[in-house]
Amino acid sequence: DRIHFFPETGSTMDEAMRLARDGCPDFTVAVALRQTRGRGRMQRVWSSDAGGLYFTVVVRPGIPLMFSGLVNLAAAIDVADILSSGYAVAAGLKWPNDILVNEKKICGILSQMEAEGDQVDYLNLGMGLNVNNQPESVEAGAVSLKSLLGRPVPRREILVAFLDAFEKRMKNFDPAAVIQQWKSHNVTLGKRVRVATVKETVEGLAVDLDAHGGLILQLADGTRQTAVHGDCFHGP
Ligand code: BTN
Repeated sequence: DRIHFFPETGSTMDEAMRLARDGCPDFTVAVALRQTRGRGRMQRVWSSDAGGLYFTVVVRPGIPLMFSGLVNLAAAIDVADILSSGYAVAAGLKWPNDILVNEKKICGILSQMEAEGDQVDYLNLGMGLNVNNQPESVEAGAVSLKSLLGRPVPRREILVAFLDAFEKRMKNFDPAAVIQQWKSHNVTLGKRVRVATVKETVEGLAVDLDAHGGLILQLADGTRQTAVHGDCFHGP
């Protein structure tokens, strides 16, 4: 089977990396009930208490490196679709790949990639979804599906729906469709934002996405700059 289950592990990112290096097939998944060293983007810790859904999918998308960012956007779209169609929860996408409900984070995505020349060899996509855990007690800006719905939701149901949708999408990968669908779910464009990378912080009006999923900012002096990665903060 392609699903590798861990009752507890350090991070499913590390399990997936091991599997990918051993040559595992496309869409192999490492899933854990708890992580002792869950990690988030920008060197942050991802609190991974029991009840949440924590998994990493190994994708071998066969696309040029320059499109790799779109894989993250694609995964975010699929999560948002599942939340709205399966649970009537309206999710918004915050660039680059946070899934928010009422401005609170319900899901985060972390990716790790290995290239071969100018092609993606594999891309490990780590998803942390607040399902039945209580992230509110750990972080003010987070929310879980259970607290939104007032009932617990089987995590397997979400995992299966996600893998199904995401695998279909990746098999007919359409960059233009990803951009268009991301835009239709997004809550970043049109806002004043601050994008921070390790090196610098840029502020401006988020005006558009470029063809590779970069965020185009209009700066105070009227020039435009594209952010390809980083942390995005909404608001003044
Ligand atoms: C973020 O928003 O900062 C990304 C969070 C990603 C968390 C997931 S949980 C499964 C996988 N394993 C990890 O250690 N991190 C990702």
